[in-house]
Amino acid sequence: MILFLAARKLIVRLLVFGLLMNACDQKEKNGDLLSEGEKRHRDYIRKIPGKDEHVPEEVLAKGEVLIAYAGCYDCHKIDKKSKGPAFKDIAKRYPIQPVYRDLLARKIISGGFGSWGNPVMAPHPHISMENAQTMVYYILSLEYED
Ligand code: HEC
Repeated sequence: MILFLAARKLIVRLLVFGLLMNACDQKEKNGDLLSEGEKRHRDYIRKIPGKDEHVPEEVLAKGEVLIAYAGCYDCHKIDKKSKGPAFKDIAKRYPIQPVYRDLLARKIISGGFGSWGNPVMAPHPHISMENAQTMVYYILSLEYED
C-alpha cells in the first residue's frame, strides 16, 4: 500500500506538479471525514449533517453536460453503484456547501480513494477547478434536503 501510494504520488508529480499540494491538502481533509465506525465498515456511508444550499438551475444544467462529456459515467451511475459510488449516494452523503464542493472538486481533479471502499478514482488533471465545482453541484443536487 505504501509503495502504491509512493508510485501514485510520483505519477501525479510528473503529470501535474502544481496539483500535488492540492492532493495532499485534500487527503488530509478527507481523513477528517471518516468516523471510526466508517474505518471499520468501509461500505457504511455516514451522512454528513447540514443544509443544502440553493444552486441556480443553469449551474446544474451545465454540470450535467460537463459530466456527460468527461467520461464520468464510465465508472459512475446515477442510481446504482458501479466502479464508483452512485451519484445519488454521494448526494445523500454531502450537504451542498462550499467546503464539500471544493473538497470533492479537488478529488475529481487529483483522483483519490478511501472514502467509499477500495476502488480508486483516476485523476482528471485537465478539468478546471471551476468546471469540477460545477460538476459537484450537479451531483449533489440529485438529492436535495432542506
Ligand atoms: C476510473 C473510474 C472513475 C472515473 C472515470 C470517475 N470516477 Fe469518481 N469515483 C470513482 C471511485 C472508485 C470513487 C470512490 C473513491 C473513494 O472511495 O474515495 C469515486 C468517487 C467520486 C466522488 C466522491 C468522492 C468522495 O470523496 O466522496 C465524486 C464526487 C466523483 N467520484 C465524481 C466523479 C466525476 C465528476 C467524474 C468525471 C469527471 C468521475 N468521478 C470519474 C471512480 C471513477
